Formats: sequence, structure tokens, C-alpha cells
Amino acid sequence: MRIAFFDTKQYDVGPFTRCGEAAGVEFKFFEPKLTADTAGLAAGYDGVCIFVNDTADAEVIDKLYNEGVRFIALRCAGYNNVDVKHAFGRLHVFHVPAYSPYAVAEHAMALLLTSIRRIHKAYNRTRDFNFSLSGMTGFDLHGKTVGVVGTGRIGRVFIDICRGFGMNIIAYDKFPAKDAGIDYVGLSELYARSDIISFHCPLTDETYHMLNSETVKELKRGVVIINTSRGALIDAEALLAGIKSRVIGAACLDVYEEESDIFFEDFSGHIVDDDTLARLISMPNVIVTSHQAFLTEEALHNIAETTVGNITDFGVRGTCDNELCYHCGNTETCKKQRLERCF
Ligand code: NAI
Repeated sequence: MRIAFFDTKQYDVGPFTRCGEAAGVEFKFFEPKLTADTAGLAAGYDGVCIFVNDTADAEVIDKLYNEGVRFIALRCAGYNNVDVKHAFGRLHVFHVPAYSPYAVAEHAMALLLTSIRRIHKAYNRTRDFNFSLSGMTGFDLHGKTVGVVGTGRIGRVFIDICRGFGMNIIAYDKFPAKDAGIDYVGLSELYARSDIISFHCPLTDETYHMLNSETVKELKRGVVIINTSRGALIDAEALLAGIKSRVIGAACLDVYEEESDIFFEDFSGHIVDDDTLARLISMPNVIVTSHQAFLTEEALHNIAETTVGNITDFGVRGTCDNELCYHCGNTETCKKQRLERCF
């Protein structure tokens, strides 16, 4: 199998080369993201391997199909950047449903602790030999109410971590997990009661801007918002307005609505045109990381291993366990539940 690997980062090359060589899968590493303009690079390859900010819309899928590509191997869990419905009958689509829910959940907690205990400020201050504590007062997590939106693999690990801190946990999920001992409430109640809200659901048409200018009004004053899922769950303008009006006490963002042309790149010597992002970053109570929640050694190894496994399985069986069931385009609620897929 020969795979065109898009949006290559230096940390991808080692794990993918090692796992690929062991399984007879050859990766050609391309730096550009997959777009309609770069799809031609995949000519002659069996498949493409893409990440969160590559684009596989209908136009790109048609181009890949016409170049003889047979599948898209996502090296991530989320697949909102792929038109899975359009891919039906053209390209097979696989993803890596889980590689380390711990990596993401632990990063969410790291952001929360950094924010509320002002670690980012302390780090800069003491490097400057400024040992003053003014403005450093935080608050205890113990006894606070955290609202978790999406109680899948990552959401549940985050809940376990929060339990260790003695927090009260409430959750909202469109498909609540039975017998999980989780106290489910409606989304409006979660917004109204939570001191901290952490988003762990996928980005879909339904979850797009689930925190917006209307729902910001439902939030408890001073709430800390954590988003390690997908940027567009939150309307960034509404978030900014909520922070300016002091309704939102702090925001911890590993993802951002318009991140695709910015995150993962070095803009330190440039002027960033995105005023909303620039304004958010300038706020003393906002922490932004560059979609790095997944970035642990364990996760990188698991991502490479599962992606290569998906590709070799497809080579043998013509499908794999992590193929997305895309006939109806409704992978979350497909009645066939992945065991008996449409394709
Ligand atoms: P998962 O599929 O195990 O869990 C997602 C949960 O969201 C499920 O319980 C599902 O029922 C629920 N859900 C679906 N639609 C919903 C809706 N309309 N409202 C509320 N809940 C809904 O996924 P997992 O592995 O926990 O990942 C969650 C998300 O985290 C992914 O979709 C991805 O976008 C993001 N992610 C971010 C990473 C990062 O580096 N920042 C890395 C990996 C994943």
C-alpha cells in the first residue's frame, strides 16, 4: 500500500514510518494540507492519510476518486472535515476512534488548573524574579459543579479525573450512557448550574455553535469554559462577548472555530488577521493551546498503529472495524450500529 500523507508534522514521521515499515505500508509525507488545490499530489496512491484541518469535501473527494485513490485514512477521531455522505460509493473512510482519551482529558484538566490557579502568570512572573502574589487568588475545585457535555470516551475520563478532585458532576449527552452512574440533566440546566463546563461531544450540524449569544445568557456568572473538542461548538464572537460582559469568568481553549489556517503553524513573526482570536488571546482569563490535547507519545504511537492497522485490514478484507458507516450520512445514530454496516 502506498499512502499520500497530508499536513505532515515532524512528530508524525517517526511513528508512522516505524509502524508502516513493519506492516508493508509506505507513506509519502507531504507538508501541505489536503485541499482541492493539493489533491492532485495523491495521484497514483492507494489512499490518503489526513488530520483535523485537512479538507475532504465533495470537490476534494471527487478529485481523489478520479486520481484512483480508494480510501481516506483519518489519523484522528473527529471526521467533521470529511463529507462522509458524498464519499459513499467513491472512497472508503476510516478513522481512529480512540487512541488516548487520557491525553485529551488530562489536557483539559491541565488547562483548567492552569487557568484557575494562575500558573501561566506565575511562570512568567517568577522568571522575572517577581514574587508578588497580587492578582493570583484562585479557587478550590473541591465542591464545585462541573458540567460535562458529551460522555463518550474522553468525557468519561474527564469525569473520573473530576471525581478525584471531589467535584459535583452533571452531564448532558444526546445518547446518555445507561448504568454509568452519571447524573444527566438537560443542556439548559447544565448551563445554568455549572461552575465549569467542559465540551467533549463531536461537531455535527446539531452541535454547531451550541454555545452561542443566546445560550451564553443561560450560563452561571463566572463559569469557566473548557473546549478540547472542536472549535465550532462555540461561537467565538459570543464567547468573547460573554467574557467582556463578565458572564464567562475564564476560557480554556485547545480548539478554535477558525483554527484551520492558523493552528500548528508559527506566526510569531507575522500579524495574525483573525481579530477575534487576537482579542481572545489578549484576555488575562483566556488560555489558548494549539490543538495539542492529543499530543502525547502514547497517543502518537496508538494513532500510527491503528491507522496502519486500518489500512492493512482494508487491504485484506476490503473494509476495517474503524470504517465509518456513511450510507445515510448519520454515523452517530445509524440503526445498524457499525456491526452490520450499509456499505
Ligand atoms: P466519543 O464518540 O467516544 O464520545 C462523543 C460523545 O458525544 C458520545 O457520548 C455521544 O453520544 C455524544 N454526542 C453525540 N452527539 C451529541 C449531541 N448532539 N449533544 C451532546 N452529546 C452528543 O468521542 P471521544 O473520543 O470522547 O471524542 C470527543 C471529541 O473530542 C471528538 O469528537 C473530537 O472532536 C474531540 N477530540 C479532540 C482532540 C484534541 O486534540 N483536542 C483529540 C481527540 C478528540
